[in-house]
Amino acid sequence: MISRRSVLRYSVAAAAAAPAFSTIVRAAEPTPINVGFLNGYSGPFAINGQESDAAIQAYMKRHGDVVAGRKIVLLKRDTTGPNPDVVHRVVQELISRDKVEIILGLDYTPNAMATGVVTNQTKTPVLVVNAATTKILDTAQYLVRFGFTTSQVGVPYGRWAVKQGYKKMFLIYTDYGPGLEAGASFGKSFTDSGGTIVGEVKPPLRSPDYSAYVQRAKDSNPQAIFIFAPAGEHPQAFLKAYQDSGLKEAGVKILATGDLTDENQFDALGEGTLGMITVFHYNESHNSALNQMFVKDFYEFAPPHTRPDFGGCCTYDVFEALYRVLQAQDGKIDPDKTIALLKGIKFESPRGPIEIDQNRDIVQNVYIREVRKVDGKLQNVEIDVIPHVDDHGEEVKAS
Ligand code: PHB
Repeated sequence: MISRRSVLRYSVAAAAAAPAFSTIVRAAEPTPINVGFLNGYSGPFAINGQESDAAIQAYMKRHGDVVAGRKIVLLKRDTTGPNPDVVHRVVQELISRDKVEIILGLDYTPNAMATGVVTNQTKTPVLVVNAATTKILDTAQYLVRFGFTTSQVGVPYGRWAVKQGYKKMFLIYTDYGPGLEAGASFGKSFTDSGGTIVGEVKPPLRSPDYSAYVQRAKDSNPQAIFIFAPAGEHPQAFLKAYQDSGLKEAGVKILATGDLTDENQFDALGEGTLGMITVFHYNESHNSALNQMFVKDFYEFAPPHTRPDFGGCCTYDVFEALYRVLQAQDGKIDPDKTIALLKGIKFESPRGPIEIDQNRDIVQNVYIREVRKVDGKLQNVEIDVIPHVDDHGEEVKAS
């Protein structure tokens, strides 16, 4: 016969076992959430893919891969370069077949535009890492930009150039969205501030040979050349033509957006870049505790010769935004709530403070940088900062 005492002992033992059971329940496998990630893993921007992989690993090293009970399952896809047809198809598949609930990444403007066409229908939020043409967001309601726009850097740079004494400028900008915007925005702020444009050319996006364009610049006898060209294969092609032209020896300076002195290009570009002044939103050398941690973690995961640049930094940031919106919705992604949560979001990025405004666009510091050697490495070193600039290139008050 079982005594009262042993029943009691049994129930005490059962009670003691209960926490173990609930622990098991709590530690149950988190529910996966499929997240699309698009970047160039082949083509002219291929290093970008390797770079973003290292940035994602750096982020997850600190924050894990489970958020609000959801395990992040990344479905990575290759844009293959500026290929909107490929991207349109890939985004459709990611959403309808692979059931991604949110998309991160995107390199080139035409790729982001193709994505927007699909996500307007499916209402899938897209956290854009790079595509830099302001108007992309006008017709794509579910895109939110974490990169930059070429007006954002071009407008303050035009003013800055005049203050530095530049009066006669030749413009070179790639003949597609971000280039046309860079030329127009820099050109307007430069002339509004008292400068003169002595000529301009628009090389094509694909496989450009810059020699004829640089010759046109030389014929116009400028004091300096402003250039926007997308990172990847353009900077080397342009700088070769510039060096071959003798313009450097003649004292004609280059003013460029930071795509030209992208940290990932420095090995290929070499010491000829020393002293170049560019404008951009991220510098590997940015002096903050968060950036130092990001850079250190990045190198732990990056393949040899891959450095953290604007693509890596902005990839890190879209993951921070993803984790925040997932937390705020208890592990769910409601499309409209996600967009509402992203409007007004602000946090510290490795590039400095960032904020998304009510138009889903980014507000951030714009840095004027000079290429210098730091600890034996070519770096873009900040020499001036224009704080809290919106996508149109205007300083806005902190909210
Ligand atoms: C763009 O297509 O928007 C783009 C691509 C590469 C850059 C900057 C902008 O370096």
